[in-house]
Amino acid sequence: MKRTHTVAILGHGVVGRGVCDLITNNQRELVHYLGCEVKIAHILDLRDFPDSPYGELVTHLFDDILLDESVETVIEAMGGSHPAYEYTQAALSAGKNVITSNKEVVANFGDKLVRLAAENGVSYRFEAAVGGGIPVIAPMLSSIRQNRILEVRGILNGTTNYILTKMFTYGDSFESALSDAQALGYAEKNPDADILGTDSARKIAILTALALDMLPSVDEIHTEGITGIRASDVRFAESIGHRIKLLGRCISNGGKPVVCVAPFLIPCESPLASVNGVYNAVEIVAEPLGNVMFYGQGAGAGATASAIVGDMIPIVTGGGYNPIVPGFNRAEHFIRAEFSTFSSRFYIAADERHRDELTVLLEAEPYSEEGGEVVYITKEMTEKEMDALTERFEGELLSKIRFI
Ligand SMILES: NC(=O)c1ccc[n+]([C@@H]2O[C@H](COP(=O)([O-])OP(=O)(O)OC[C@H]3O[C@@H](n4cnc5c(N)ncnc54)[C@H](OP(=O)(O)O)[C@@H]3O)[C@@H](O)[C@H]2O)c1
Repeated sequence: MKRTHTVAILGHGVVGRGVCDLITNNQRELVHYLGCEVKIAHILDLRDFPDSPYGELVTHLFDDILLDESVETVIEAMGGSHPAYEYTQAALSAGKNVITSNKEVVANFGDKLVRLAAENGVSYRFEAAVGGGIPVIAPMLSSIRQNRILEVRGILNGTTNYILTKMFTYGDSFESALSDAQALGYAEKNPDADILGTDSARKIAILTALALDMLPSVDEIHTEGITGIRASDVRFAESIGHRIKLLGRCISNGGKPVVCVAPFLIPCESPLASVNGVYNAVEIVAEPLGNVMFYGQGAGAGATASAIVGDMIPIVTGGGYNPIVPGFNRAEHFIRAEFSTFSSRFYIAADERHRDELTVLLEAEPYSEEGGEVVYITKEMTEKEMDALTERFEGELLSKIRFI
């Protein structure tokens, strides 16, 4: 029996250190499941870590890893597109498996990297890139693959979910909930990728590839963040038995994917409505399976390390395989166009001076009128129809949020 599987880790930050700890502390479990020990040969980082128990393994030269023939698997936990993409390419070309938590690289270059891995007979795996510690990619590739997937929708970003939960529970404004999230370390100093929806867009792109066999370009995905959500929107949602959640959604529309990231009004009885704080969840609607939901910690050192090390199991026990190839073909440029056919009911809030005009345009009586604002719940209509109706109010509507 093979005695050791040797890995190198790129990045000694939150995730990289979490992987070191898991491999070190759970060696007994690893030996049990993998049938061999796991050895960390190198850690690449820009800095030295004299106080880290793994400090002696740190190198600043990627070639130390690339040229070390004993390294079978490279774990990329550096973040950013570059040089993470180039290092991944080099490792796969050298016949090393790569496991990553970097959704930016998977969403931007996953199609190329999955092909490159297949050409070199190695694996490129990325369970940790979506939903942190929640196993969602592996089930989508195995136990539910025989179904026709109709929709994947998820709360894919813990920071925004924390902010929305805070706004709901304590009536906080967006700004105050964001600074609270920053103080607690849930949001970065520059939180744009989270609050503008980009992080969720990368993740729903990856899930779309697995669900509908097409990898959309992230900049083609209709993406709205949560910066425009007001405390009064959250209160309104509550008054009608709903919650506001930032969802990534990919829906099969006759085989063509409708993909978006946006805040949605979700009925309280929906399981997604009760996902609070920094937790993530992914709900899959499939034929004939029905609905299944995966729920858990979407980030954090331990949870993310669990997903990364879990990706090692098929590599070590299955002889290295890469079943992801079919889904990772770049989608044609119709993703944005398809979104115009997406249909929903809308909650609209506007200044009361627009009351008469909106009542005619939306063919709906105001749902409520309070504090100088008028609120409507529209009939179901497509994005194209809504855009045509509200074109003249560009920038003037106080809120426009879809119902799920
Ligand atoms: N944190 C989470 O909970 C979580 C969850 C799921 C997925 N992820 C993803 O996992 C990846 C890592 O996240 P993280 O939170 O661990 O980030 P992090 O704490 O910033 O760690 C990244 C480490 O990589 C180092 N690094 C950056 N560029 C490098 C380069 N060119 N060469 C060598 N080292 C380099 C950084 O050094 P410097 O600090 O000196 O720049 C840092 O020590 C990201 O893609 C992230 O999106 C994170």
